[in-house]
Amino acid sequence: MTTPNFDDRRTIVTSCGVLIDSVGRVLFVHRRDDRDRWPGIWYLPGGEALDDEDVDDALVRELREEVGVEVRRHDFLETLFDEEPISGRRAVHNIYAVLEFEGDPELLAPEEHDQIEWLSLDQLPLRGVPDPLTALLVERMGAPPPAPLVDNIEPLGLEEGWDKISSRYQEYAKIPTDKIYYGAGTPTENELQLVGDPQDRDVIDVGCGGGQNTIAFKRAGAARVVGIDQSTEQLEFARDLAAGEDIDVEFLKSAVETLDLVPDASFDAAFSSYCFQFVADIRATFRSVYRVLRPGGRFAFCLDHPAYMMFGTEGFTLTKPYFQRHAAFIWPFRQGEPTGISAVYHTVEDMFAALREAGFVVESILEPELEEQQVGNWKHDVDRARKIPRTVIFAARKPEESP
Ligand SMILES: C[S@@+](CC[C@H](N)C(=O)[O-])C[C@H]1O[C@@H](n2cnc3c(N)ncnc32)[C@H](O)[C@@H]1O
Repeated sequence: MTTPNFDDRRTIVTSCGVLIDSVGRVLFVHRRDDRDRWPGIWYLPGGEALDDEDVDDALVRELREEVGVEVRRHDFLETLFDEEPISGRRAVHNIYAVLEFEGDPELLAPEEHDQIEWLSLDQLPLRGVPDPLTALLVERMGAPPPAPLVDNIEPLGLEEGWDKISSRYQEYAKIPTDKIYYGAGTPTENELQLVGDPQDRDVIDVGCGGGQNTIAFKRAGAARVVGIDQSTEQLEFARDLAAGEDIDVEFLKSAVETLDLVPDASFDAAFSSYCFQFVADIRATFRSVYRVLRPGGRFAFCLDHPAYMMFGTEGFTLTKPYFQRHAAFIWPFRQGEPTGISAVYHTVEDMFAALREAGFVVESILEPELEEQQVGNWKHDVDRARKIPRTVIFAARKPEESP
């Protein structure tokens, strides 16, 4: 057991200022990627009060030191609580409206910040500004809520997008290879057994990404396991991972809609984890999966629950109506700008109907409650995941006799 370092998790108290320019934009600074606390995020200028320093005095001093403005008049707005997703460090931010100030803001603390920018409210979700701060600014400044993400960012196409983010995604997600994974905070396939015992079975992993589940099926005793993906970078990661772990699995580059190169009736089980929210044509995809399964073959897949995807990454800012299927999936990595990838949020009804249409018998639909001890690196989403299922899992079967 490790001993927690309480000093490291100490709650810090800051004073931060909302400066607004003549066209209604708010001043933000970008914390350097190599900062120990809250690296790579955009936040208001401000900082921690010194020992015995009054929080109002801290605001005036911090804005002078960090961005070179003299605060002449300010008004307390709200305190906001913040918890750093990875380390769990906590902060209470005293947020002030700066009603009058002198000076042109400039970067004066290069060891702490590397960019300074006036941002309009609709840019805030895209810069990864924490939702509680965005919500406070939107509420107090009387602006309309941020538009759906799809209107704000030009999403990258799938192959280009996944090739671009693969290394950051793998570094962040750290998906295990010793269990068949339905995602953070969710029971595993080893527990649920929705495709049955993989022992001596042939399994296809559809949209295998970094290949962790492909490897995990082999470890669980499967005879032959093939992972399919269309991203060269993801497949390269997968091949290296399998070679490094000395696991004999195959990887093929193909679109899941067609499953080119995969012969008919060649697998006993098909599995897919978090791929289908990126696939526009799930009807074609389910038909292809049906084609490559043997009679009686089982199919289980999970993806982001479409209700969960209606809200921002933190808090409950509504970013997308349930019935809006197309939207960019924003990866708010802590390092670098968020990246958008085209995504399609099929409704539960759409997926059920597409499975039936392909010929599958749908056996169960699961909306698991969050398993707190399995959350891993996804800490920033925990509050939302306690209230809305993060993942939806479908289990289906190809009938022994095709109709
Ligand atoms: C979130 S990752 C999930 C990967 C893996 N199953 C896992 O659980 O980590 C989604 C993967 O789906 C792949 N993908 C998305 N759309 C695809 C398509 N139409 N054909 C093939 N692969 C696709 C992407 O390249 C990416 O590797």
